[in-house]
Formats: sequence, structure tokens, C-alpha cells
Amino acid sequence: MRDSRETHIPRAFVVGYPIKHSRSPIIHGYWLNQLGLEGSYEKHAVAPDDFTAFVAKLRSGDTGYVGGNVTIPHKEAAARLADHVDPLAEELGAANTLWLADREVHATNTDGVGFISNLDAERPGWDATEVAVVLGAGGASRAILQSLRDRGFREIHVLNRTVGRARELVERFGKPLHAHPIDALPELLPNAGLFVNTTSLGMDGNEAPVLPFELMRQGSVVTDIVYVPLQTPFLDQAKRAGLDTVDGLGMLLHQALPGFEKWFGVRPQVTEALRQRVLADIEALP
Ligand code: ATR
Repeated sequence: MRDSRETHIPRAFVVGYPIKHSRSPIIHGYWLNQLGLEGSYEKHAVAPDDFTAFVAKLRSGDTGYVGGNVTIPHKEAAARLADHVDPLAEELGAANTLWLADREVHATNTDGVGFISNLDAERPGWDATEVAVVLGAGGASRAILQSLRDRGFREIHVLNRTVGRARELVERFGKPLHAHPIDALPELLPNAGLFVNTTSLGMDGNEAPVLPFELMRQGSVVTDIVYVPLQTPFLDQAKRAGLDTVDGLGMLLHQALPGFEKWFGVRPQVTEALRQRVLADIEALP
């Protein structure tokens, strides 16, 4: 049997640890199938101690891989180990998308573009506001803060239980950012047109506090990067306050798009049918 290197069928991967619950193979598999392309996308559990060797093997060309996605806990190492890191991933210090060219590993981070593209698709005009409030200062928050700054937001307020982490992000991303404790929320919400939850509050049935969304102006947008459950406690609360809400599943779908285009050469689309496909999987195995 000929292997994929001889037949030049492009193969891509997602690596993480653990990786079992990654939905990325469903997304890329759906696009390959829809577009009638030959190619594969497979998941690999790679332990932290083995990731350097994985990147070296990828660079050698011996794996037959054209590239792939990197997820927790390897995003920082991916940005460190790649031969070419684009300015977005460089500033974040984390990469989620790798591709191979002339035996060199290239890296970018598509989380921010996924976040912005989802809002552009679901709520055109969402960025008419100049003031955003972002809850959380962990790994997931960074790409969102960077993308809001790059979109031109004038004021980005980062609230975190551990205020020191929010302050570090203010130093990293500069001028439009401001750090606050979570109890500053009532002062900040009346002037903000966008609220983003980047914390794990409300995820998988975890408790979430009741936030004073009624203080936001009508027409403001509330979004949550948590997508299990799809209707998170914060989205429920915001809806009850009459605000516009956007769930987090679209960010997952949109962040996958640039990688697919690099590896397989065709730009796919985020459609309702893809969303339903991934939703069915989440419902089967939350
Ligand atoms: P991720 O990479 O998914 O963002 P993380 O780096 O562990 O994960 O960050 C999780 C975020 O959720 C942080 O902002 C965290 O606040 P701290 O920095 O204070 O830990 C926030 N978070 C998690 N559980 C929380 C809770 N019970 N109350 C408030 N914030 C919480």
C-alpha cells in the first residue's frame, strides 16, 4: 500500500494532552468531505515531555504532515519551538496553528480571528461600540484582548478575580486596556457595548455568579467563549436583561478556518450545517 507521502495526500493533526474531547477532527473532517478533498485530520495525545520531539519530527518531513493545530498545554511551546512565528502569535507567546514549508515550521494563532469573525458573522455592527468589558485574564483571554485592541476598541476593561493577572495583560497589550477587580463591574457596564466572558464560570454546569447585565444599554452584545452548555448562565442572564447574545461555538468553528486553508488549499465556510454537526456531537458527549 502506498503511504500518503507518495500519493501527496495532505495530512493534518491536532495535538494536545488530553485530546480526547477535541471537536477539531469533526470540523476538518466535515469540510474535507463537503469539499470532496482528499486529505486527513487526526488527533494525537502528546504528553508535555514529548512535544519538542513531535515538532522536530514534523520539521523533518518524515511524518507526512503538512501541519496541524496545537491545543492545551502546548500552545506556548509551539510558539517557542517554531522556526517562523507571525507577529500575532509572537505577541501572545502562544500558537494554535502550525504549517510546514521547506522543512521549516511556521506558527500563528487564529483564536483572535475566530473570535472576531464569529461576531462579524453573527452580529454585524457589533463593533460600533468603543468600550468592551472582558471577564477573565487567563490563557483564553489573551487572544481576545489582542483582537479587540487590533479592531480599534478605545477602552478595554479586563476584570479578574486575581487582579495581578489582569495587570500583566495591560502591560502586555498596552494603552486601551485597564485592569480591575470583578466588583468594578457595576461601574463599568453602563458605558460598555460589549461584554465577553473568557473564564470557566458556567462551563459544564459550574456555577456562575449573577451579573448586573440590566445596567448595560439596550443593543449591547454579550458573548461567552464557553460553548458547553451552548446557552451559558451568563448568556441566559443577558437575554433576560433584553441584550443581544452570541454563543461561543462560532469562535471554535471560525478559528479552524485559516488552518484548513493553509493545509488543504481551499477556503471552507462556516455554515449552519457544520454548526449542527458539531452541536450533535456536543449533545452526544458534552
Ligand atoms: P484559560 O486558559 O482557559 O483561560 P486559565 O488560564 O486557568 O484558563 O484561566 C481561567 C480564568 O477563569 C481566569 O481568569 C480565572 O481567574 P483567576 O486568574 O483569578 O484564577 C477565571 N476563573 C476560574 N474560576 C473562577 C472563579 N470561580 N471565579 C472567578 N474567576 C474564575
